[in-house]
Order: sequence, then C-alpha cells, then structure tokens
Amino acid sequence: MTAKVIDGKAFAAEVRAQVARHVTRLKQENGLTPGLAVVLVGEDPASEVYVRNKGKQTVECGMTSFEHKLEADTSEGDLLDLIARLNADSAVHGILVQLPLPGHLNSDLVINSIDPAKDVDGFHISNVGLLGTGQKSMVPCTPLGCLMMLRDHHGSLSGLNAVVVGRSNIVGKPMAQLLLGDSCTVTIAHSRTKDLAEVCRRADILVAAVGRAEMIPGDWVKPGATVIDVGINRVERDGKTRLLGDVAYDGAAAVAGAITPVPGGVGPMTIACLLANTLTACCRANG
Ligand code: GUN
Repeated sequence: MTAKVIDGKAFAAEVRAQVARHVTRLKQENGLTPGLAVVLVGEDPASEVYVRNKGKQTVECGMTSFEHKLEADTSEGDLLDLIARLNADSAVHGILVQLPLPGHLNSDLVINSIDPAKDVDGFHISNVGLLGTGQKSMVPCTPLGCLMMLRDHHGSLSGLNAVVVGRSNIVGKPMAQLLLGDSCTVTIAHSRTKDLAEVCRRADILVAAVGRAEMIPGDWVKPGATVIDVGINRVERDGKTRLLGDVAYDGAAAVAGAITPVPGGVGPMTIACLLANTLTACCRANG
C-alpha cells in the first residue's frame, strides 16, 4: 500500500481563507478587527522565524498583528506588566507568548497571567481544565490542526485505537484529550513505554510528537493506519540541513493508509488554527 499524503499546506490555506472571509464580515457588519499580540523574549532563531510567519499570516487574514520583542534578560515583572496591559487592551483579542522562554522566567506563572479568554494557545490552566472536562475552551493549535485533518480524512473517529507518542503539555496531552472527546480509545506512549513498537502497531491513528528525528520506523506502523507526524527536526545530512519528522517517512508511507509529510503537514495547520482561535476569541469577547 502507498499512503495517501495528507496535504496540510493546502488544508491550512483553506482554513485561512475561511478565517479571512469571516474577518471581512466582522469588519463590515460589526466594525470589529480581531487583534493578535505575539510576545517574543530573546533571540532564538527558530522562534523568530515562527513569530515572523505568524505576524505575516495574521495581517494577510485581515487581522491586526501586535509584535512585542523583548530583550533576553527581561525581568519577570516587566513581562507580567506587559501581559497585564495586553489583557486590558480591547483591541487585543488573542495573546501568545512564544515558548520556550529564557530559563530565568517561570513559564507556568507567565502563561497563567494571560486572560484565559485571550489565551489563543490554550495553555492557561483554566483552558487545560475546561478541555479535560469536555467544556468549551481555547484548544491548543497543533493538536487542533491534527484533529481537523483526522476528521477530514476519516469522518468519524469513534472507536478507533489512537496512540499518541509524546506527553508534552503543548501537544501530547491535549491531543489525547481531543481524541478521547471524539470517542477514540486512546493510549499515551512515551520514552519509558514498554514494547513501544507493539503499542504503535495497534494504532489505527498514530500521532508522533516526541521531537526525535525518524524515531518511529515504518515497521511500527499498522498497515492502513493514519500517521500524523508532529515532529519538525532540523538535521545535518550530507552537508545540508534537512527537516525531518519523528516518523521515518518512506518506510511509513509504504504501509500506512494516510500520512502527513514534513514539511507541509501539521506545521502549516498550527498557524492556521492560531488565526482561527484569535477569530473565535474576538467573537466570544463581543457576544
Ligand atoms: N513554541 C513552539 N510551539 C509553540 C506554540 O504552539 N505556542 C507557543 N506559544 N510557543 C510555541
């Protein structure tokens, strides 16, 4: 079997176009322009690329982008003051603090200082609790993008065996909650899981979110399974920098029913979902 390639780039372009249409209507009918504030502390090159892309796509969708770039040695107090100002600013509907933060800053404290209604990352403890109890919340962007692609491919996910490899707060745990919400039988596996290969081979849906290049070989994939590869790993190979997923693509694509490529799979969906969450936050804030 050769897997169907799930085109995240095209899917994300559709989501962004839908968001842009909705933003145009909001402006015309309600005089509202959704605004997204992105806060970057320090000069991590990968984070700078993400933040630039977020800003560009926010504007392309007709929303306002507010970028706050702070020095790497910014104090926690100054960062909390900025977040308090953004919380109080009615032109700002979504706030994203780019992670990871420099080591002297307490990420939990910073994230939990964001107004939960503006927490478009869905990382605030209130949103985590709402998602875990099946209530209306802000849903983390990467898992939301994965869920949208899975629903599009399968229709109903009910009763399917889903294995999520990786237990991060940003991807693994919320992904598992979303799949449970769609009535999958969910296993969260990780680096300490016994017989990880066997666990993966039971998966109708295999989500890889471990951050290790090509950690999952093709013979861990059940024939016909859907493979969602969240990994974006920069690897030097043959003198070139390559982007590799957490799944060994060629081997997995030979047995899977469907697979997301890297790049062009999950990555573009993350920013598209961030824009969708910003629109949602704006609509909720204005009744
Ligand atoms: N760093 C890597 N991914 C993310 C994300 O989805 N949100 C934030 N805030 N930081 C990140």
